[in-house]
Parts: sequence; C-alpha cells; structure tokens
Amino acid sequence: MDNRAILDLLQVKNQDHIIHHVDRLPPNKKSKFFQNCNDLDLDLVFRLHNECCASKTTLSLRGNIKVPRIVSLPVRENERKSHYESKLVGESLISNGKVAVLIVAGGQGVRLGHNRPKGTFPVSPIMKKTLFQLLSEQVRALSFRYNAKIPLLIMTSVENHDDTVLFFDTHNFFGLDQNSVYFFQQGMLPTITPEGKLLLKDETSLFVNPDGHGGSLSALNKSGLLDMLMEQGFSELFYCQIDNPLVRIADPVFLGYHSQANSQCSTKVVRRQRIDEKVGVYVSLDGKDAILEYSDFGGKHMEALDDNGEILYWAGNTAIHIMNLSFVKTLNTHGFALPYHCANKNVEILDSKGTRKNVDAWKFETFVFDAIPFAERTCCMEVDRSEEFSPVKNKSGPDSPSTAHESMVKLHKRWLHDAGIIVPHERLVEISPLFSLDREELISKLKGTIMQVESDLYLA
Ligand code: UTP
Repeated sequence: MDNRAILDLLQVKNQDHIIHHVDRLPPNKKSKFFQNCNDLDLDLVFRLHNECCASKTTLSLRGNIKVPRIVSLPVRENERKSHYESKLVGESLISNGKVAVLIVAGGQGVRLGHNRPKGTFPVSPIMKKTLFQLLSEQVRALSFRYNAKIPLLIMTSVENHDDTVLFFDTHNFFGLDQNSVYFFQQGMLPTITPEGKLLLKDETSLFVNPDGHGGSLSALNKSGLLDMLMEQGFSELFYCQIDNPLVRIADPVFLGYHSQANSQCSTKVVRRQRIDEKVGVYVSLDGKDAILEYSDFGGKHMEALDDNGEILYWAGNTAIHIMNLSFVKTLNTHGFALPYHCANKNVEILDSKGTRKNVDAWKFETFVFDAIPFAERTCCMEVDRSEEFSPVKNKSGPDSPSTAHESMVKLHKRWLHDAGIIVPHERLVEISPLFSLDREELISKLKGTIMQVESDLYLA
C-alpha cells in the first residue's frame, strides 16, 4: 500500500487523530511511520472490528457437543500392539525424510515475566538447560537416531526475533546443522479501541499485537517455507509450543496413528485434572472434532460428569499437533481460513497530546487448534500428562518453572527405575535427550549396568 492509499484508508475509517499526528511529523519520521504501516493489514483489522462489534465470539456453542473418538493410553495387549505398529509406521516416516518440526516461540510470555524470548528460559533440573536447548537436542538426537534430515522451524515475533537468532548463533545451534534451522516471524495486527480507533505505540508506529499461535500457519506460507518443505518432499509437520519441556518431538507413535488415520490434523490430549482447570477441551462439535477454549466451553459442559462420576469431556489440549503440509496449504488457499478471536487488553499508548496513558483495547489473534474443524480427517491421541505435558506459563505456582523442574526429575527417575536404577528421594536426575530420548532407549543403554546413585545424576 502506498502512502496515499494508507492516508485514504485512514480517512475513510475516521482515523483523524492518526492523520493529524502524521501531519505534524517531520519528513523522516513521516516516512518511517508509513514504512511501519506497510506490513500491517489495516483492512483486516477494520473488518474484524466490525465483526467483533456485531458478535464478540467466533465459535457458537449452540452446536451439538459430544465426546469425540480418542486413541486411549494402551492398557490391553491389543492396544500395546497397536501402539507398537504405529511406532514402526512413524519411524519410517521420519527415516524417509517426511517430517519437519515447527516450534512456536513468538508470544509475549507476560505471565512468566522473563524479559527475553521464552525459549531462553533455563528450565532443566541440574544443567539449567534452556527450553530452546532441550527441544533442539531432541531434534538432533532424532536426526541421529533415524539418520534423517529433520528441518527445525522456529516461529518468532518481531519483538523477539533478533534475540532468538542471536541465542542460537551464540550456542552453535545446539549442535544442529544451522542450514536445517529456519526462523520466521509471525504477523502483527493493529490493536484497536472498542470505538474503532487505532492507537499509537510511539511517534512512528501504530500499536500492534502478535497475531496468535494460529498465525504460524499463515506465516509459514507467506515466508515461502511451506512451499520449500513440500518441494523437498516433506509431508508432515510436527507442531509444538516452546514452553513444554516434556514434549516428545516427532513422537513416532503419534506420527504412526496420524498416518494410519490418513489424518490431516492430529492432536495429543491429556486428562483434565479438575473441572475448573483452565485448559482447552477436545470435543466433537456438530460432528466435527474441535478444541474449545475453557472460557467458550461454559460451566454446564465443563462440569459434566459421566456415569462413573468422571469428567465427561476429559480431553485437555496439550497444543501438540501433527499437520499434513497439503492441509496447511489449503488453509491458506483463499485467504487465511482460521477465525480471529477478539480479546480485551489494557495497553500503554501515546495519546494525541504526546503523553503516555493506558487504555482498554481489543486485540485480534488466531488459535492454531481452530485448524482442526477444517480437517476432513483427524486423529486424537491420549497421552500421560506426567510423561509429556508440563508447560511453563507462570512465574510460580501451577504450570511454572518449579512444576516443570519437578516433572522432569520425576519422569527421569521413573525411567531410571524401569532400567533398574534406584535414585534416592533427595537426589536430582537429568537425562540429556542426546543420551536417551525415551524410556526404551534408556533401558537398552543401561542394560546390565549396576549403579549406586550417591549424588545428583546427569546422564549425557
Ligand atoms: P501462550 O498463549 O501461553 O502465550 O502461548 P505466551 O506468549 O507464551 O505467554 P503469555 O500468555 O503472554 O503469558 C503458547 C505458545 O504459543 C506461542 C508462545 O510462544 C508459546 O509457545 N505464541 C503465542 C506465539 O508464538 N505467538 C503468539 O502470538 C502467541
């Protein structure tokens, strides 16, 4: 959009306060302002504002909600056999160079209060490895185990991009081939007041917010990386968030179930711990699988129990998915398919008198799980929370660095226990992904080893 077109649009949309501000800027700052506007989809934000005024929710819960089909944890012999068979299918997908990994690491990490990219947060119990290191080492171990090229795509935001790239650079990409690590930035959208007024962040830029984790699926396309992966023969994208140190990157069992179901979009879920746990819920909505945010789900469904008194809609979202790349392409074919959600936010802006003040505003973002209902074929798999899900969201309390630390220690102690090694209660343990990616690998590596653990134990 050229400068004239931007001004015309601002005029039509009654943004006189912005036009007056721009008029008063000296030429160098004026051109900076237009440059900053250039990447922003102003039309989209005005359209979303109108839609949001008409109705503040995107998903109607008047639909018919049912318990969906979910592959449960293996208990019986036939279920174990099925998991084993799926693992073989998943392993061959990785070995045949079909699987790429996407980690979303944009976002603002407000609750954690870490003033750098969330991935730079030190989280492992003994070595204090960062989230970026733990997840990158998994990718490295997988490439090694399956002798396969596994591209690692990392979505950043405009705010944390440079810091993230520098972090990888200064840590030698954690041993990964730097040609197989790709960084791309998520989109930003202007924040707007409920009255439809754009806001200034500073003299030369509008106030904007990252467009949500769903934006990864459009940014992947816009960056050209989606086409690149498809041209190179990759077909499946393993998706996860940076904040879960227990995630099993490209879990072959999950890949296998996804592939056998010919699924376009698959999800791992864990049992909800309490009826008031703030987690998205995987359901069937009008015959289509979907994840509903706990705030959209509502008390009646959230609290529903089955005949045994257990939570009826038990499947909590882990934000771990596998998507078929052609499906991701389809989501981008006629504009970007995912619906936008509107959230209230109090933001600090520059007002027309040049003073800073706080105002209430609306931000728009998309959620990656809204891709699920667009898929013709889906797959959902239950996993054990204590094995795979311990997100770092808050500074303290639930879902914090201390709970993640505790989960990692407990998990690795269980693996060691199964390998015949007992670790005293007061000792910490940490197993590097480069030593063992999972329990089975640890058991086979330590077979016949007799070990007396008398201090904290790090296996690398
Ligand atoms: P959260 O919704 O937990 O947001 O993101 P956050 O930014 O990490 O933390 P808060 O809410 O500000 O405290 C879940 C995951 O999605 C990514 C985050 O990096 C995290 O891995 N994300 C979120 C993005 O990449 N972009 C976004 O716009 C939002």
